[in-house]
Amino acid sequence: MNAIEVEQLRKTYVSHKKAPGVWGGIRSLFSREKNEVEAVKDISFSIGQGEMVGFLGPNGAGKTTTLKMLSGILFPTSGTARVLGYTPSDRKPSMLRKISLVMGNKMQLWWDLPAMDSFLVLKELYEVEDSAFKKRSEFLIETLSLADKVNTQVRKLSLGERMKCELVAALLHSPQIVFLDEPTIGLDVVSQKRIRDFLKELHREDNCTILLTSHYMQDVEELCERVIVIDRGALIYEGTLDSLTRQFSPMRRLQFTFGECPAAEALAKYGKVVESDECSAVVEVERDKVPAVAAAILTRFAVEDVSIGDVDIEEVVRDLFTQRGA
Ligand SMILES: Nc1ncnc2c1ncn2[C@@H]1O[C@H](COP(=O)(O)OP(=O)(O)O)[C@@H](O)[C@H]1O
Ligand SMILES: [Mg+2]
Repeated sequence: MNAIEVEQLRKTYVSHKKAPGVWGGIRSLFSREKNEVEAVKDISFSIGQGEMVGFLGPNGAGKTTTLKMLSGILFPTSGTARVLGYTPSDRKPSMLRKISLVMGNKMQLWWDLPAMDSFLVLKELYEVEDSAFKKRSEFLIETLSLADKVNTQVRKLSLGERMKCELVAALLHSPQIVFLDEPTIGLDVVSQKRIRDFLKELHREDNCTILLTSHYMQDVEELCERVIVIDRGALIYEGTLDSLTRQFSPMRRLQFTFGECPAAEALAKYGKVVESDECSAVVEVERDKVPAVAAAILTRFAVEDVSIGDVDIEEVVRDLFTQRGA
């Protein structure tokens, strides 16, 4: 059985237009002029047990809406979602004990209490046994290097430390499925990396299923083998990051350092020169022409060093969305 099965899932937010003022409010009770936002439009996908999948899309694409439907916070307009065989919107306690949703922009810890106090409340809520709680909290606190932070009032912690405490809180009950919505948003690069490393460790240790959205392509690049991409509510790609790059960016970049500097015009014959200074240059060529072009340049010029790189994945994804937006 797949951990997550989504079929033709759709969410349309409906709100009623309200004219300003008291009379507007009263009038709208009768006129009911509707405002509809199709946040998620019939998306289908499945995720196997133990997979860690990246969920990508620009702002407003419908990622958070989808994660909320999968964790039972929102009722779908139509279509079906199955999570570990459950229908999430039923909110069965046995399902809620097996999943977790972490939102980078929403805190569930009590602001004025030390994080440990919140952990103990969650322990009771999820009915975690004393010995299991001890083992689990020690593992999480250790892996996130939080030992000297969990007894400090949450409000006094840095944003990164708070996020790490949020992760502990969300994972104390050892969920089989973890939905992570922008867990690294707003964090400095060092904290981002700590959280990435932690997620790797968690995935290895628990073998849990993880669906991760992030603004930072590096998170997805390092953690996820497979990605699902949505744009304006519709699924536009599903597969490896590698073939996403292949499919949407046919170009590769050859980077040369020369012993003797060639003229820029001489290089331009071989491809698009995207960068050049004193004695180095970057030439962009189509993927399947790479061997021939590299060989030709190596033969013709005094090359000291050459490397072949992909076009930056961040750029590929950005281009993909801008192209579609146009
Ligand atoms: N509660 C809501 N009521 C009305 N529209 C909403 C609500 N929540 C989100 N939306 C709209 O639904 C769309 C998808 O939003 P969201 O799922 O938050 O996207 P993402 O997480 O990919 O940025 C956006 O157009 C957003 O403005
Ligand atoms: Mg979102």
